[in-house]
Amino acid sequence: MSGTYKHEILKKLQHANGEAISGQQLADDFELSRTAIWKYIKQLEEEGYVFETIRKKGYILKSQPNLIDALKIKAALETETFGEQIIFKETLPSTQPEAHQLAQQGAPAGTIVICEEQTSGRGRMQREWKSQKGKGIWMSVILRPNVPPYEAPQFTLVAAVAIAKAIEEVADIRPEIKWPNDLLIDGLKITGILTELQADPDRVNALIMGIGINVNHETDDFPEDIRDIATSLKLQTGKEIDRAKLIARILLHLENYSNMYVESGFQPIKKEWENYSCTIGQQIKVSTINEVFYGKAVAITNDGVLKVQLPDGETRSVYSADIEI
Ligand code: BTN
Repeated sequence: MSGTYKHEILKKLQHANGEAISGQQLADDFELSRTAIWKYIKQLEEEGYVFETIRKKGYILKSQPNLIDALKIKAALETETFGEQIIFKETLPSTQPEAHQLAQQGAPAGTIVICEEQTSGRGRMQREWKSQKGKGIWMSVILRPNVPPYEAPQFTLVAAVAIAKAIEEVADIRPEIKWPNDLLIDGLKITGILTELQADPDRVNALIMGIGINVNHETDDFPEDIRDIATSLKLQTGKEIDRAKLIARILLHLENYSNMYVESGFQPIKKEWENYSCTIGQQIKVSTINEVFYGKAVAITNDGVLKVQLPDGETRSVYSADIEI
């Protein structure tokens, strides 16, 4: 209950547009004592909210911490349905298993699981994914596209375009897509995407799209062993980025592009993917489960398959692999 009062008091002060609201008025509105109101204000201050207290007038909200929560994301949403259901937790081992479970229980497309900190975040190939508290976007989105399971990997490409576009709009910097699931800025990793599948033999039940974005990290926030391969939007732009706004924008583009894919396939998205790509035209090392080979990434097909030309002229289709440029 106390969490609800605190939230409601905060909402009132947020909507006061810089006008003071007196402790007495808040006390009357919520049928609490003035001391109780003062205690909630102190709690909010401990969470990073800054108030100006004017004698005889009351409290003015001067600034808010860069936190994310369901309300803040919802306030920024422009989607049809994505983000209608937001499961927000301060800390989770990983958002992926939580989202898998919700999907199995029938959660609708566009449901998101998001947290401020993951203690066992994971990337592709069971790699560890560092998820520092309050610095990034660590979320899993449930998609329910009506497509056969073999098309699931294409949604990683769709998500990459959606996220790249959202980053460009909100942070005013253009990331590059490294096939299939990384976004880079200046050659350093800013985003990883992990697409997992719940399917019957002939149809997808749910895609669990895990998205990790390094947003407001300082250099010291990264463990030493990844400092030369990872970066954050803040390090690249010099600006603190509003994570709720970025999440809302990602959901908007993810909703639009995944609908577009279901209606018309990858082809209408391909041009935008190519414009963001730093893979095509590069000499690359390809590591699949079975083999490692070198070649030139020459094209992406209308189905989202990477074409790699080997030194002897043979061209291979790569559906799933890790690549190094
Ligand atoms: C990769 O680059 O290998 C993919 C990284 C995916 C990280 C995200 S963060 C949210 C979701 N929860 C996880 O444990 N992993 C994904």
